[in-house]
Amino acid sequence: MCGIFAYFGEKTHSPKLVIEGLKKLEYRGYDSWGIAYKKDGDIAIHKEIGKIGDVHNIEELKDESKIAIGHSRWATHGGVTQKNAHPHFSENKEIVLVHNGILENYLELKKNLEKKGHTFRSQTDTEVIAHLIEDYTRTHSFFDSVKMAMAEMEGRYAIVVMKKDEDALIAARRGSPLILGVGKKHGEYFVASDIPAFLKYTNKVIYLDDNQICTLKNGSTHFFDTIKKTDVQKRIIEIDWDIESAEKGEFPHFMIKEITEQKDTLTRAINQDPETIKQVAKKIESAESVFLVGCGTAGKACMVGQYLFSKISNKQVSFAFGSEFENYKNFINKKSLIIAVSQSGETADTLEAMEIAKGNGAKIVSIVNVENSSMARMSDFVIPVKAGQEKAVASTKATTSQIAILMLLAYACDGEINIGKQLLVNAASQINDMLNPRYEEHISKIAEKIKHVESMYIIGRGENYPIALESAIKLQEVSYIHAEGFAGGELKHGPLALISKDTPVIALVANDEQKKNIISNTIEVKARGGFIIGVSPENQEVFDYWIRVPDVGEASPIVNIIPVQLLAYKLAVLRHVDPDKPRNLAKSVTVK
Ligand code: F6R
Repeated sequence: MCGIFAYFGEKTHSPKLVIEGLKKLEYRGYDSWGIAYKKDGDIAIHKEIGKIGDVHNIEELKDESKIAIGHSRWATHGGVTQKNAHPHFSENKEIVLVHNGILENYLELKKNLEKKGHTFRSQTDTEVIAHLIEDYTRTHSFFDSVKMAMAEMEGRYAIVVMKKDEDALIAARRGSPLILGVGKKHGEYFVASDIPAFLKYTNKVIYLDDNQICTLKNGSTHFFDTIKKTDVQKRIIEIDWDIESAEKGEFPHFMIKEITEQKDTLTRAINQDPETIKQVAKKIESAESVFLVGCGTAGKACMVGQYLFSKISNKQVSFAFGSEFENYKNFINKKSLIIAVSQSGETADTLEAMEIAKGNGAKIVSIVNVENSSMARMSDFVIPVKAGQEKAVASTKATTSQIAILMLLAYACDGEINIGKQLLVNAASQINDMLNPRYEEHISKIAEKIKHVESMYIIGRGENYPIALESAIKLQEVSYIHAEGFAGGELKHGPLALISKDTPVIALVANDEQKKNIISNTIEVKARGGFIIGVSPENQEVFDYWIRVPDVGEASPIVNIIPVQLLAYKLAVLRHVDPDKPRNLAKSVTVK
């Protein structure tokens, strides 16, 4: 989703630097982009629709400036046009800003400003913020104007603001990520919505918290909390991400790199501090109600978790997508425990669910991949997923690690953390053997056979039912083939009508108590002409095509999703879709 990158310091090529920074954020998804920088006592703006492309063709790269802000836009309010692209000017072009998030009360604020004589050049909510700040600057300082505008702004956002006649940058956030990179040279700062954008220059970061404003001026920083109305001292954190892990290396795409990394990531996920796991397990045990919350793929990991808690630790755990959680708020109180699952730790719907739960007094645990993310910082307990940066929009390695952690917790609740660990260590080693070029070749052949189909279906039972749903997400988002997942037992209640000759159906057949039933469901599909791709430790007569997966007992959801991730990737490549940046989607969904 939208990306922000800004530079403040002594380097004179800040326009070039900001465009390069925006390119590093491309994985978040965007449809237009723009920069603004100080030039000859004025503000210059350059905006374009589409991708940044080859940076060397951009004239503005040569301009010299020590302050610049940039933005890659994923359209929400107003279509994909140059006018709607950020940065946005205020009425008199005194203020220019970039913005992530949504200004929920922009229509009301816009009407008031129009009454005061303001005219707007775009259809965006963002432009309203620029006008609002400028309106205050007529009577107040730059800093106070941003502060007063924030007091009127509703919704989740991150902004970086520049003023024509001040050598300063102001950054502020409420609910949308914004991170400060502390440059190696004194007085040099980067502001970005994600760390990889400035990792080339520094690994020293300061996380801006909700409702905080940061002013960069005269080579130093000033932080202010708009709720407590006090200055704040911030800590510089050194992160240990390396640049290499933020790059593709020898792989053609991040998605295949990240699928392959599952050889190691599971082992890292299992390697948790046992005390944290045991402490969280105790909380789960003692809570009156436990809710798993997540969105999309992370939501599917939660659904697997529900089955695991029920089967392994005899514990009833509820689940809600972040966007649906509010409907259950009457059941959330001081004795409730919320477990939020997220790769980015910044998903607006999940964050909002956590805020609701916190408001009702519940304790919060988060299972997040991005340490120090907003979710991590608002949780009582954090279990790090440790999958490393995930850059492809489609989540792969973070998912299997999230499931592994939920399984570890389920075993810990049963007092058997070591059994869970052993099971997962075995699964990790089997995945290491499974992911080899021959295996990929085998999956490529299936992809070649089905690359022109219009629809396909995936079936599973028990904890492999959510994996059928997750398989559908993977296939939809990167291959653009219509895919749906079903519980095997549900087929005869409707979906069987969709099956005709050669309709591909992936059957997830684990070696568990559901095996007989899911094979029966697969036979029902075959009898209607379906083309069966079996994902299973053993070949079955009903399979037209068999993808072997290791027999790893209760860890079957982890190994079963991997060949489907590979199939989705291969289909994307064969259908000439960029698997890393599927259309209409963004990596970090920071709006509701
Ligand atoms: C799909 C995918 C999304 C995310 C969802 C939540 O492959 O990645 O469905 O799972 O947007 O994101 P996080 O995990 O960052 O909260």
